[in-house]
Amino acid sequence: MHIAVIGSGYVGLPTACGLASFGNDVVCIDNNPEKLKVLQSGTIPLYEDGLQELYEKIKSNLTFTGDMSVIKDAELIILAVGTPMSDDGSANLEYIYQATQDIKPYLKSGTIVATKSTVPIGTNDEIERIINRTDVTVVSMPEFLREGYALQDFFNPDRIIIGTDNVDAYNKIKALYSPHIPAEKIIRTNRHSAELIKYASNAFLATKIHFINEISDLCEQIDADVADVAAGMGLDSRIGRKFLNAGIGYGGSCFPKDTNALEYMAKQHGVNLGLVSSTIKGNHDRRFNIANRINKYISEIGSDARVAVLGLAFKNGTDDIRYSPAIDIIKNICHTPIYVYDPRAMANSKKELKENVIFTETFADCIKDADIIVILTEWPDFKELENVEFNKKTLILDYRNILEESKMRKKANVEYKRIGQKL
Ligand code: UGA
Repeated sequence: MHIAVIGSGYVGLPTACGLASFGNDVVCIDNNPEKLKVLQSGTIPLYEDGLQELYEKIKSNLTFTGDMSVIKDAELIILAVGTPMSDDGSANLEYIYQATQDIKPYLKSGTIVATKSTVPIGTNDEIERIINRTDVTVVSMPEFLREGYALQDFFNPDRIIIGTDNVDAYNKIKALYSPHIPAEKIIRTNRHSAELIKYASNAFLATKIHFINEISDLCEQIDADVADVAAGMGLDSRIGRKFLNAGIGYGGSCFPKDTNALEYMAKQHGVNLGLVSSTIKGNHDRRFNIANRINKYISEIGSDARVAVLGLAFKNGTDDIRYSPAIDIIKNICHTPIYVYDPRAMANSKKELKENVIFTETFADCIKDADIIVILTEWPDFKELENVEFNKKTLILDYRNILEESKMRKKANVEYKRIGQKL
């Protein structure tokens, strides 16, 4: 199939590479000339596990261009541009509507336009209105890829949702995936349901995280351990263990934006999503509570404490720092300097963190001579702390609960604290 993907970000690039690897002829269109130059030189300009390697294998099926007219041959056009959060919490649809206007002159009869960008309910109706052609079908095809695991999720998705009343369009998209993905995972819904499945899924997962973080706070007061509580809860197959890792709150470009957009759109329809509102507020407050905790420990040690922070990305496996709790926490630590390190997110963080921070070259440089080490991102790399010998008293605040407790408790000179255990 001839496929055009509009937008070459965290969704567009893995989708384009994945579909090209199925043998399709894919063109990826982006209007950012700098990004395009990098892509055309053969480099994937973001970090996503395995993506560069996959691109090397499938590059004969995938081209990059800024020229919109190439879509005239496409049977399927995938919209994968950003829908960032506006100041009022709603999704900013400027880019999706601009992309719709841009493709409009080149659409051929029978083309399917599938929206992968996360868009509020009714946006695809508006895209259809802008295109204004009965021989073009607009489909909602929400994306469920996780950053850092995008290819894993592309090739082994939990589900493919195809939101359309047009059975022909559904069958064409299904045929694209069905040789590779089990048929029972491919589901047709109407467009509004597809749009809502995306928001409801992200809001549910965000709420699950917020719930375990609240339970974690309770654990700290009653001498329970949130890791055990999560394990015990998770064994109930109706609950499941995933997304029950207590920590510093969720971040990234999706959960914060999508919970806010869902709350906003529900309000517009006169519906109060109190649970989602409480998640948004609780998650926002959490990063400041965590910063206060760190400040308290630093003040106990003194103003000459050497403070090391491990982790800047909003989660492991990515260089993305958008709405990263780690960044907000560091900004709210009242201490100078703070030594910081992240395996992937240093370059992005340098644009964001300017004051009070020293970016160290290596993990070892960061933790050297530290009085306090705080873990803020769940990178497996930081498990190296289990093997480090500390020759001075060191407080380790493992705010992602990634280190093996039994090992850390046995370590000489180490006071080890986790999230969700008695303070
Ligand atoms: C999320 C969803 O998981 C994807 O299904 C969805 O496609 C994507 O948003 C999107 O809408 O594009 P992502 O933002 O990449 O994916 O990250 P997650 O792996 O879901 O993690 C989100 C945040 O929750 C991170 O800050 C992570 O550290 C935090 N988290 C996750 C926890 O604090 N505890 C957990 O148990 C799980």
